[in-house]
Amino acid sequence: MSEKKVRIGIVGFGSFSLSHLEIFMAHPDVEKVVGAEILDERRKFVEEKYKIKMYKTYDEMLEKEPDLNSVGVFAQRHQHGPLIIQGLKAGKNVFTAVPMGCTVDEVFEILDLVEKTGLTFAMGETCYYFPCAIWNRKRIKEGVLGDVTYGEAQYYHNITEFLDSYKSSGENANREIGIPPMLYGTHSASMLISSIGSSPVEITCFGYVDKIGDGFYGKGVNNWDNPFSNQTAIVRFKNGAIGRLNEFRRIGSIKPSSFITGIYGTKGTYECSGNQHLLTLGNVFGQQADSIDVSDEINTFSFIEDKGKIDPKLGRLNYKYHTGFSPIQNTARLPEVLRKMEAEFRKKESLDIIGHNGTHFFNVDDFVKAVVMDKLPPINAWRAAEFTLTGILANESAVNNNKTIKFPEVGNPPSDKEVLDFD
Ligand SMILES: NC(=O)c1ccc[n+]([C@@H]2O[C@H](COP(=O)([O-])OP(=O)(O)OC[C@H]3O[C@@H](n4cnc5c(N)ncnc54)[C@H](O)[C@@H]3O)[C@@H](O)[C@H]2O)c1
Repeated sequence: MSEKKVRIGIVGFGSFSLSHLEIFMAHPDVEKVVGAEILDERRKFVEEKYKIKMYKTYDEMLEKEPDLNSVGVFAQRHQHGPLIIQGLKAGKNVFTAVPMGCTVDEVFEILDLVEKTGLTFAMGETCYYFPCAIWNRKRIKEGVLGDVTYGEAQYYHNITEFLDSYKSSGENANREIGIPPMLYGTHSASMLISSIGSSPVEITCFGYVDKIGDGFYGKGVNNWDNPFSNQTAIVRFKNGAIGRLNEFRRIGSIKPSSFITGIYGTKGTYECSGNQHLLTLGNVFGQQADSIDVSDEINTFSFIEDKGKIDPKLGRLNYKYHTGFSPIQNTARLPEVLRKMEAEFRKKESLDIIGHNGTHFFNVDDFVKAVVMDKLPPINAWRAAEFTLTGILANESAVNNNKTIKFPEVGNPPSDKEVLDFD
């Protein structure tokens, strides 16, 4: 059996791993997929529908499938750190759903293990490949915006809208729903940090004390004694830029939930409202002042195809218009079979796999290519640590009366390994 193929055991079968499973199964460099799921109903469903070997627990899967070289962690958000550490200690490459962990210690232990073992670690952060993030990374690298001075990104998801994703915790669900928003802060952090292209150096965060009283937020109510349903962090970056990150769980808003509102540079500005994306160039450094609508570079193909028929404002309300690929995404880097899969799902308007702007394809392919080519994925342990620590430290600031927290040195990946970059 070739070492240059991925043999992966996936732990956790809620809706998020199901939207990755078929992609792993179809990838030409994946030769084996098995799974583990504690809940009987979910385990049987996967066995019957996808015909893969399933185990009840992660431990059992690791024990009975010694030839696995990789694991995929899709358990509840606060459980990832220990499962990732266990996987790395068992000698497996790790793909994980966000976040990488919920404590500073977990993050640094993972970094240490990845560094010592040389195993591949990739965090499947969907927002890293959201079209607005790719667009800003590209244009900022090209110098279109000049020096970035300030940027804003957010993840808005009202808590009552995703109670279902806590069902798997059974009677513990009510103590987990109120997790501090910033402990799941990688959506906003990844978009802003990767666009600005610099590392955070300090962070201050304010929390909104929830007033609804429906049993999710407050002292003694959840496992974190967390009173905050919304948190806003201000970050200072090494390159001098300032960032604002919002992680809101009580908000009357609509999808898309993760987006960059604006990035402001000395030469130009990116701003977004709904489905309209504008690049504005200032009358500075001899440039021609201009405001250009770049929406067709960023919106999904589905939205662009229907553009003449819909009110662009209403387009934001339709889930179809933020699923599937967009022109700014580098789809040519994907194996043909995955590109065809996206097209088929888009045609039949089956949104599961192609949700989150089709980013599951890029995240899976990053991991598989990194393992097979022995290179580092774009969201490697060091990048994932920065995205994850931003949220962890923001929460630490919020619970300590908005104290400014210095960001620890995360370091850099080993220089002898190339970092894949498919932007
Ligand atoms: N855009 C995104 O990046 C995005 C979107 C949705 C969810 N997520 C992340 O994906 C993860 C999964 O989300 P979900 O909604 O599918 O969650 P879920 O709670 O519905 O599913 C998790 C499953 O893991 C199983 N599990 C936990 N520990 C296990 C073990 N040791 N052995 C076997 N099974 C185990 C549970 O029984 C449960 O069924 C979450 O961490 C969430 O943070 C990310």
